[in-house]
Amino acid sequence: MPTVPATPSISDAVAELRSGRLLAIPTETVYGLAADARNAQAVQRIFLLKGRPNDHPLIVHIAGAAQLPEWAIDIPDAAYRLAAAFWPGPLTLILNKHPDVPDAVTGGQDTVGLRCPDNALTLQLLREFNGGLAAPSANRFGRISPTTAEHVRAEFGDGAPMIQDGGACKVGIESTIVDISCDPARILREGHIRRDQLLPFLPGLLAGTGAESPRVSGSLQAHYAPQTPMRLCSRNEIETDAETDAVVLALDSLPHGCLGLALPSRANEYAQGLYAALRTLDAMAAGCIWLERTPENPDWLAVNDRIRRAVAGSG
Ligand code: TXA
Ligand code: MG
Repeated sequence: MPTVPATPSISDAVAELRSGRLLAIPTETVYGLAADARNAQAVQRIFLLKGRPNDHPLIVHIAGAAQLPEWAIDIPDAAYRLAAAFWPGPLTLILNKHPDVPDAVTGGQDTVGLRCPDNALTLQLLREFNGGLAAPSANRFGRISPTTAEHVRAEFGDGAPMIQDGGACKVGIESTIVDISCDPARILREGHIRRDQLLPFLPGLLAGTGAESPRVSGSLQAHYAPQTPMRLCSRNEIETDAETDAVVLALDSLPHGCLGLALPSRANEYAQGLYAALRTLDAMAAGCIWLERTPENPDWLAVNDRIRRAVAGSG
C-alpha cells in the first residue's frame, strides 16, 4: 500500500518556505500552492509548476488586517471594515500595491490581491512565517481546483510540493474577489460571500461581469474543467435521454438507473462538494458528464459561474 506522507510540522513548513520552495496549504476555499511572496524566484516556481502564464497575478495571503499596510497603499477605510466583518474568510480585496511587492506576484500590475484565509493550520503558519504567502489554487492551469490534500497529490504526482493536510475545504469554491482600488468597487469573481453582504460596506458596488476581465484567470471562459466533455441538462432530459456511457451529477438524488453522484440542493453544500464530485466523475472515464441544472438565484451565482466555466473548458 502506498504510504501517505505525514503532514509536516509548522516549523518544517516554515523552513520549506524560507528556503524558497513551494508548500501546498489548506484554506477554507480550496488548497493553495504557496511561496514566500517577497521572494520573486520562489514565486516563479509557482508559475512553472502550475503551467500558468506569468502575467496572471497571484493573491497574497496574510495573517490579518494589521498586515495590509505591508502590501498595499491608499487603503480605504472600507478595507478595514470588510476585513473586520469577513476575515479570516473567503474574501479577496484588490488594493493599490505597495512598491515593495514583487512584480512576479502582481503580474506587473499596480494592484495586489490580499486575503486572510480561514483555516487554523494556515493561520498558525502565517503567524509563524511572519510574512505573506503568494498562492493560487494548487491545480495545473485551467483544471479543477483541489479541495483535499489528496487532490493536490493527484494533480502534481511526483512533482508535488510539501503538502500541509488540513482536511477537506469547508467552502469548496474560490474566494469572492472585490476590486476596491477603484470607485465604485467591482466584484471580479463571485464566491461564497455574496454581493448583498458586501453592499452595506461598498455602496454602488458593481456586480461581476461574469467574464471578461483578463486580470482574473478564473474569469477565463474555460476554467475549472474536467477532461470528460460536460453538458448541462434538465432532470427530465437525464431521466429520458442520458446515454449509456454517460455519468450524471444530479441534485439531491441520482435518477434511477443512472451512474454518477448527487449533491445537496443547498448552494453552500453543493459548492463544498462540487470540485471533488467533478474529479470523481472525470475519473470514471465516461463519454460525457451530464450535469443537472442548478437553480438561478443569487445564492447560486458563484456555483453557476464555476459550472459554466467547467462546461466551457471540458473535454
Ligand atoms: O480562494 C481563493 O482565492 C484561492 C485560495 C488558494 O486562496 N486562490 C485562488 O487563486 O483562487 P487563483 O490564482 O487560482 O485565483 C486568483 C484570482 C486570479 O484569477 C487572479 O487573476 C486574480 O485572483 N487576481 C489576483 N491579483 C489580482 C489583481 N491585482 N487584480 C485583479 N485580479 C487579481
Ligand atoms: Mg485557480
